[in-house]
Amino acid sequence: MKAEAQPFDHHGGPRLRGLAQVPRSRSNEGKFGRLFRTLKPFIPSDTQLKALAASMASTPAMDADPARDNPDIPAGYTYLGQFVDHDITFDAASALDRLNDPNALTTFRTPRFDLDSLYGGGRTQTPFLYDEDDPVKLLVGANTDTAKFEPVDLPRNQQGRALIGDPRNDVHVIVSQMHLAFIRFHNAVVDHLRMQFFPDDEIVDEARRLTCWHYQWIVVHDFVGRLVGPEIMGEVLVPDKRTKGMKADLRFYSWNNTPFMPVEFSGAAYRFGHSMVRPNYKLNDQVAELIPVFSPALTPNPLQHLGLFRPLPKTWTLDWKKFFPIDGSTPQLSRRIDTSISSPLHQLPASVDGPRRSLALLNLMRGRALELPSGQAVAAAMGTTRPNADLHLDPGDTPIYFYFLREAEVLAEGRHLGPTAGRIVAEVLLGMLKGDPSSYLRKEPRWVPELPSANAGTFTMADLLKFAGVA
Ligand code: HEM
Repeated sequence: MKAEAQPFDHHGGPRLRGLAQVPRSRSNEGKFGRLFRTLKPFIPSDTQLKALAASMASTPAMDADPARDNPDIPAGYTYLGQFVDHDITFDAASALDRLNDPNALTTFRTPRFDLDSLYGGGRTQTPFLYDEDDPVKLLVGANTDTAKFEPVDLPRNQQGRALIGDPRNDVHVIVSQMHLAFIRFHNAVVDHLRMQFFPDDEIVDEARRLTCWHYQWIVVHDFVGRLVGPEIMGEVLVPDKRTKGMKADLRFYSWNNTPFMPVEFSGAAYRFGHSMVRPNYKLNDQVAELIPVFSPALTPNPLQHLGLFRPLPKTWTLDWKKFFPIDGSTPQLSRRIDTSISSPLHQLPASVDGPRRSLALLNLMRGRALELPSGQAVAAAMGTTRPNADLHLDPGDTPIYFYFLREAEVLAEGRHLGPTAGRIVAEVLLGMLKGDPSSYLRKEPRWVPELPSANAGTFTMADLLKFAGVA
C-alpha cells in the first residue's frame, strides 16, 4: 500500500512472607514508549484504512465455517488474553483522529502482571472492591434473580455497572466471568492460607503474592507459548545458568529503569486477539442457543447478545469446561489468528464505540494515530522480512496491525503469530516480568507453583478455575 499524500486529518519451597514480596504498585499509571524509535510513521489515508477494514469483515458463511477454528487454542485463552491486556495496558487518552506522541500518553494500568485491574488501588484507595465483612477478600456479586446468594456475578452498583478495577472487564459476559474467576481465586487463596494458620496480619500481602505469582506462571507456561509458537518461545524463555531457573532473553525490548508499554504491542501486535473472537458462544448446558458476542440492533433483546455493563442474566453462569480443557472436556475453539474479524465486531455497540465503527477500523486508526511504522519496516528492523508477494500483500507498505495478522495467517496457518509479531508479543510479555522486581521470574526464578494442581509443580488455567471453585 502506498500512503496517499493527504493533509493528515490530525487524527512454593520456603514460604516467602512479608510486605517486601507484594507486587504493590506505587501508582496505577505507567508510560507508553516505542520499540523502534527511528522508524518512520506510516500514515495511510482514511479511504485506505476504511477499505482495508472492510476487507477484514468475515461473512456469515465464513463465521459458520469450522475450518476457521484454531485446533491449537481453546476459546477460553482468547479471554485470558483480553484479561491480560486489561491488566497491563489502558490507553484512555489517545485520540483516534489526531497523531499522538506516546511519551505524552499515560497507560492507566501498570505495565506489570500485578492484577491492578482486580485489586484497584488496594483497600485504602478502592475500598468498594473489598468485602466489608472480611476485608482481606474481594467483593463478589450475586445473581439478583435468585433468592439464595450465589456468588456468580461481579459486584454491581444500583444501576448494574460492575464495581471492579477496570471497567473493560465487564464489556461482555466471558471477560466478566473471567474477572469473577480471578476474584474467587484470590478469595480461595485467602481460605487456603487460613487453613494453614497463616498469621492474619500477613494474609493480605501473601494472598496477593500467591495470586499474582500463579497467574504469572500461567502467563509464562500456559499462555505465551500458545500465542507465539514453540520456536519463538524457546528463543525468548531460556534457562539461566546463574540462577538455574528460566529467564527472558530480549533483543528488541529494553528500558532504562522500569519497563514501559510499547505502542507497537498495545496498538498492533497484541490486538491479534480480536481475530480469535468467535461470532457466538455456547455458554453452558442450560442455554440451548449459541449467543452472538454483540448484536447489530440498536436496542437488542438482552438475551440475544453477550454484551454486558449489566447484571448477568439468570442462567448465564459460564460452564468453563466449554472454554478450557478441564477434566477431559472438549472446549469450543478460538478462531484462527488471521485477517478476518467475526461479524459481531463489525459494528460495535454504542456503549463501546459511539459511532458504532468496526473494531478492525478502530485498530487501524489507532495504529495511525500512534504513528506506528509499517509492518514491512518493523520486519526489516527485526530481520524477519518476507517478500510482500509471499504474504499475499500488495506492493508497498502495509499497516502494521494488518501485516501482523497476515504473517500469522500465511506463515503459521493462523495457529499462532508469525515471526515479527510473535517475537514482539513474547518479548514484551516476558520482558515485563523480567523488569518487575516483584515478579516470580525476577525474585525467585526457580519458584514453582505451590497450590494444588492436576500436575504437581505446574499450574494451568484449568487448575486456577478449579481452585477458585468455578469449574
Ligand atoms: C469481544 C472481545 C473484545 C472486544 C469487544 C474488544 C474491544 C476493544 C476496543 C473497543 C478497543 C479500543 C480500540 C481503540 O479505540 O483503539 C480494544 C483495544 C484493545 N484490545 Fe480488545 N477487545 C476484545 C478482545 C480482545 C482480545 C481477546 C485481546 C488480546 C488477546 C484484545 C487486545 C486489545 C488491546 C491490546 C487493545 C489496546 C489496549 C490499550 O492500550 O488501551 N482485545 N479492544
